[in-house]
Amino acid sequence: MSPVQATVIVNADIPGPVISRHLYGHFAEHLGRCIYGGFWVGEDSDVPHIGGIRRDVVEALRELAVPNLRWPGGCFADEYHWRDGVGPREQRPSMVNTNWGNVEENNHFGSHEFMELCDLLGAEPYVNGNVGTGTVREMSEWVEYLTREGSSPMVELRRANGREQPWRVPFWGLGNEPWGGGGRMRAQTYADLARQYALYCKDHNGNVLYRIAAGASEDDVAWTEALMRAVDELGRGPFPALPFEAISVHYYTIGGTWTDKGSATVFDDEGYWRTIAAAQHIEPLLRQHVAVMDRYDPQRRVGLVLDEWGTWWDVEPGTNPGFLYQQNTMRDALVASLHLDVFHRLAERLTMANIAQTVNVLQAMLLTDPETGALVRTPTFHVFEMSKVHQDAVRVPLHVRAPQAVHDGPSGELPTVSASASVAGGSCHVSLTNTDLERSVEVELELRGAAPTRLSGRVLAPGSVRAFNSAEHPEQVAPAPLEVVATATGCRFTLPPHSYAVVEAS
Ligand code: AHR
Repeated sequence: MSPVQATVIVNADIPGPVISRHLYGHFAEHLGRCIYGGFWVGEDSDVPHIGGIRRDVVEALRELAVPNLRWPGGCFADEYHWRDGVGPREQRPSMVNTNWGNVEENNHFGSHEFMELCDLLGAEPYVNGNVGTGTVREMSEWVEYLTREGSSPMVELRRANGREQPWRVPFWGLGNEPWGGGGRMRAQTYADLARQYALYCKDHNGNVLYRIAAGASEDDVAWTEALMRAVDELGRGPFPALPFEAISVHYYTIGGTWTDKGSATVFDDEGYWRTIAAAQHIEPLLRQHVAVMDRYDPQRRVGLVLDEWGTWWDVEPGTNPGFLYQQNTMRDALVASLHLDVFHRLAERLTMANIAQTVNVLQAMLLTDPETGALVRTPTFHVFEMSKVHQDAVRVPLHVRAPQAVHDGPSGELPTVSASASVAGGSCHVSLTNTDLERSVEVELELRGAAPTRLSGRVLAPGSVRAFNSAEHPEQVAPAPLEVVATATGCRFTLPPHSYAVVEAS
């Protein structure tokens, strides 16, 4: 099949906004085998660990430069009472995880363990508070417990539990999905509650909070509007104040329907294109929310946070339906790379994003085998590893000239090539995705405003879009060098079908 011809033009000398590293954030919920068996094996485990936290998981995630980690949920956050998760482990009360499999939660992984994990990863903690079944006082005291120094009731409790110094915890979520499992609230009711909860989450000793109000499901812009009105009204009052610093939104890529999502690994070409179309929908969806925010807040004082995103398939056959364990193919990797391009394009307003979820749940970076303990890096892991060069880099303009891919059925017309670029430390990095299933793309990359002397590239391009990594075949999908040829105006290279590449010019 003849290759597609594409021209990609990058203006490396026209700086845009910084692509916050927090757009590469992650999410770990008490759900299935994400915390227990994923991160936490306990101090008595034979699996190599650091104080109960799996060593290989930490080492693998450090390859991604994880900027922040959201915890303890998700839905679980609205039933979580933090005091049950501090103090001697054997004395911690247990609870039922009603959201995820009705299993017993022994609270062995709590605040101290989470902070230790963040330290090991070099990630900033994002703690999601409980609005659904908690109280304003409970969240306020959690902030005090974790971040205050000196002397106070919560500081004394923390000390008694073995930690002298406070931690730095910048990110706080004010509940989760309050329109659904987080309280079944109306937008206005929640907007008032978010202002109240946020007011009592204080900055202690220079720990400046970034408080994130729980936002819309998908394209529910009316929810975003209710929250922005709540911001606007306070800004106009006698004592103008910003009630919270950000608003979240959740969007999952569903290739089928919510009741029949389809298999992660067994899909036909139409299933592939439906998924790519669903992934591409993230851009118009986020732009709708941005438009509402721009109307109320043209100075962009309030950030937009996509703190749950990724693919959601039927669970792997034979696994607990409440544990959301799914495999991860090259199709998932492309969903991730398409999202990251959109995040770069929206970097002016989008301040954070968290893919769901880090280990063993939904679109995970890592899978651990419950029998053998083996650790597997997923294709999505490799996209995050290859694209980490964009973290905190400066976005530069990029234009793609390539034919659209036309498909019968609901997917319609979709771009064959998605791309974005940034500059940092004298290097320009260009990310490129070829969505075509059969045709490679010959790319002519024009680098304007740069005179590189070194060119290189890496590509993720397994033979099949259905390829995945497993304990038996951990390297089915792994990055390889990309041949990049210098030209008078930049360089040229070929993107294989269904592939993701990062080109570096320095
Ligand atoms: O990520 C799984 C679940 O999806 C989260 O707990 C919830 O917030 C969302 O509905």
